[in-house]
Formats: sequence, C-alpha cells, structure tokens
Amino acid sequence: SGGGFALWHALRELCGHHPRLCIALEVSAELPDAPAGGDGGGGAVEALDPRWLGEPVRAALLPTDAYLTNKHGYPTLSRRHQAVVSALFTRDVQVVLHGDSLHTPPQPPLPAAPKPEPSAGSDGKDGQSAPSRPHPLEPYREYISYLYRKLPAPSECELAESGYRDYLQSPLQPLADNLESATYETFERDQIKYDTYQSAVEAFLRDKVPEERVASAPPVVLMMVGAGRGPIVAACLRAADATGRRMRMYAIEKNPNAVVTLQRRAEAEGWGDRVTLIASDMRHAAPPEQADALVSELLGSFGDNELSPECLDGAQRFLKPDGVSIPQEYTSYVAPISAAKLHAACAALQDGKDERTHFETPYVCKLHSVGLLADSQPCFTFTHPNRPAGGDALIDNRRHGRFVFAARDPAAAACVHGFAGYFTTRLYGDVTLSIHPPTHTPEMSSWFAIYFPLQHPVLWRAGEPLECQFWRDGDARRVWYEWAVTGGSGGALTHIHNCGGRSYDVGL
Ligand SMILES: C[S@@+](CC[C@H](N)C(=O)[O-])C[C@H]1O[C@@H](n2cnc3c(N)ncnc32)[C@H](O)[C@@H]1O
Repeated sequence: SGGGFALWHALRELCGHHPRLCIALEVSAELPDAPAGGDGGGGAVEALDPRWLGEPVRAALLPTDAYLTNKHGYPTLSRRHQAVVSALFTRDVQVVLHGDSLHTPPQPPLPAAPKPEPSAGSDGKDGQSAPSRPHPLEPYREYISYLYRKLPAPSECELAESGYRDYLQSPLQPLADNLESATYETFERDQIKYDTYQSAVEAFLRDKVPEERVASAPPVVLMMVGAGRGPIVAACLRAADATGRRMRMYAIEKNPNAVVTLQRRAEAEGWGDRVTLIASDMRHAAPPEQADALVSELLGSFGDNELSPECLDGAQRFLKPDGVSIPQEYTSYVAPISAAKLHAACAALQDGKDERTHFETPYVCKLHSVGLLADSQPCFTFTHPNRPAGGDALIDNRRHGRFVFAARDPAAAACVHGFAGYFTTRLYGDVTLSIHPPTHTPEMSSWFAIYFPLQHPVLWRAGEPLECQFWRDGDARRVWYEWAVTGGSGGALTHIHNCGGRSYDVGL
C-alpha cells in the first residue's frame, strides 16, 4: 500500500540509503490494481508495481489465504498472482510461504512402516524412522515450484545479456577513441541490425532506380561513413544483389586497425572495384565524387550520444543535393526510473574524486532491477541531411527538453533514482531500429539502455506531476548532457547534473 512505501522510504532515508537494507514484500490475497499504461516489453514484470521493481526486494511473503482451490482440492493462484510470482522469480526474489494449511488435497496413502528388527528399539530412532506426513505447506510449495518450472526458457539474446544486468558501463566514444577488435566482434554478432540495414538500403535502391530504369540507370553511389570492419558495407552489397541495382560505394573509416581488417575483408570477399576504401576521418575526407546516399551507424544508446550529428554534419558535403542519409532520423527518449541498485553501484564507484562525478555521468546498462515510473517521452531528434535554411547558417546541435511526467500509478508515491534513456531510428522509409521498450526491435542486442543518475534520489509524491529538464550542450571540442528535476512533486528540485560538462563529456 502507499503507507508501506512511505514507511520504507523514511527508513531508507534515515539509514542513508545503506546498500544492505532490503525489503520483504507481503503479497496479499487482494492485489492492488495493476498500474495503468505500461511501456511494454516488460512481460510478466508488468504485473508488479513499478515502484518496487527498482527497490531492493529480496523476499516476498505469500500467505496461504492468497491461494484459491482448484476442482481437485489443490491450492492454486489467480492469474494475477501467478504473474506476480513469475515476475518475482525473474528478479531473483525468494518466495516465503506462511500461514495455516487451508487446503486438504487428497493424499497418497502412506507406505507401511517397516517392521523394526528385533534388536532395534521401537522409537524408530535407529535410521528406520517411521514415514512421516509431508509438511502441511508442501502442496503450496509444490505449486510454487510448478510455477517456477513453467517460466519460459530465456531466449538466446536474454542469455547473452544476463551477465550484463544492472552492470554500469561507460559509453563508448568511437569518435575520440579507436575501438578494439573485440568491440567490433561484439557488434558483428548482431545479425538483426545488419539485416535491417540491408532492408533499408534495398528500399532506397528500389526508390532511387524504379524497375523500368534498372537497365539504363547509372550506378547508384553509396558512401559508408564509419565502416568499421565492413559489416554494413557487406549488407549494402547484398542489397544491391537482391534488388538487381547497379551500385558502387566508398567506405570511409578513421580507425587504422579497423581499416586493416576492412582491406583484408575486401580482398577475401572480392569486393573489387565495387568498393573504394578511404582511411580518413569523415569530417576531413575528400572522396572523388558525391553520393546518392550516406550510410552510417554512429548511434549510441541515447541516439546522438556518440556524436552522430556532428559527424554526419561534417560528411554531408559528400551528398548530392537530392541525396539521402541512412539513417534519416533518430530520436532519444527519457523516463524517470526507480533503480536503487544502480544508484548504489554509482555510489560504490566513489574514488576520492569530487563526489558528484560518478552521479553526473550517464552509463550504458542492461536495465534489470529497475521500475519504469512513467511512460517515456521523446527527448532530442536529429534529421539528416541537416541543411538549415539560409545556406551557410551554422548548424546548432544543442538541444533542450522539458518534460512533465505523470506517474503510471498516480495513487502511489515512488523514489526516482534517475532516468532511463533509449532511442529509435528511422533508417529509410518505414525501416526502423529501436531500443525503446514499446517498439524494441526483436532480438536486437547491439545497444543497452542508458542510465542518467540523480545524486540525491527524489521522492515523487502520489498524484503530482514530475518536471525534469535535459540539455545537450557543447563547445568546439566536446559535447555533453545536463539534467535535473526542476519541479512538480511538491516543488522537488535537484542540482543541474554535469553543469558545463564538468564531470562527463564526449570528445569531438
Ligand atoms: C559504432 S561503430 C560501427 C561500425 C560498423 N558500421 C559496424 O556496424 O560494425 C562506428 C564506426 O565509425 C567510426 N567512426 C566514428 N567517427 C568517425 C569519423 N568521424 N570518421 C570516420 N570514421 C568514424 C568508428 O571508428 C567506428 O568504426
């Protein structure tokens, strides 16, 4: 109930958010109404109150009076209770049965007690103890264990991701740093991403060269900017073969190590004169002709956080006036979350630096022990090519967003430990990729979400809105985000995190 949460929150505050403080929830016979809406993608987890999903729940007390009776007299749970118990299992929450035995299912007859040997005593304490009746709560335990066995097997993608749950990683900086071979290998395992790029390029080629002009049209020119070790180059070649369109392409890459692998791949796969490699930063490269399409994958978990906008703005001069960018646009999303575990992980990173530093850094993370407290809202959108009206006008990639969130459960207070960030992108036409939960591309594993922490968690009062603001700012050398809670919930406020990029930035 609301009172329960307030009690927990007060206790936790008084204990200074101590990481060893945790919760046992009572799963009552009457469950509160399921929270409205939902961001999708949560499966059974949606059955749980999101406020508790992000809290350190270690055990759930399940009383025997929460059980129904099936037609054979055995204890069973309502569908809602089943969903709650399944969701608890996926969170590694221990289920504790308690109460009187209220069911008397038919029991198999007890096997006859073995006759005591003449020498043995009759108290059965010599290892030949008399068979005993099972524990009175055994039928309830049996049912819970049946629910556990019924859990769907994890998909390959879930299995691969399970080791990364709630693990905070610094976002990659593929522009400022040169990625390692192992990082490219991880990217290249995600066939879904490359198949989707292939579909986007196929759709573009079909639009560019209609069927009736296939024989007479000149080859389409593609420019792959940020080719890495070539998986999207290969997807473009497959798209040309699949559509029967003539095509030649340039592959630009600035990481010298990746270029070596790219060269080897070009030779091994006989790309020949269909692909010209250019080892250069796309912002300064000088390819010999302009392209019909600029193909790139420079996206981070928050869409623009690996500086795709700045790179593509620098590269769009290679594009013909009617050329297109693949992706055509991308949008980031934010949502307030309860995430005590992530907050504790940030606190544990403190290393003698300014104590704000680790709380003013966004982290890439496979969000797991997290409750989504409100539906996410679109944050920043970038469209390419980005040619501002007025010709030479400077492109301004700074952004500001102000969001007023309504709680998914307006009757309940919650603790906000930060924000989850996601992105969607429209590669071409209606071909999209997404890590935004309601539209997540199935089985795509290339990106986890991003977590923006709040140094001091905010109590979000029941029935009130929560106002937050995000900024994307930058100067000639770097780009950064700032974020804050700026109102609602009884005037809740936090300081502006990462003001002026003092704790975290992305190098240009
Ligand atoms: C996210 S990786 C994607 C690589 C590849 N497309 C894939 O899917 O495996 C981005 C690549 O773009 C390259 N890159 C980033 N900024 C660049 C720039 N300004 N000029 C050239 N390459 C760049 C990086 O070195 C990296 O190889």
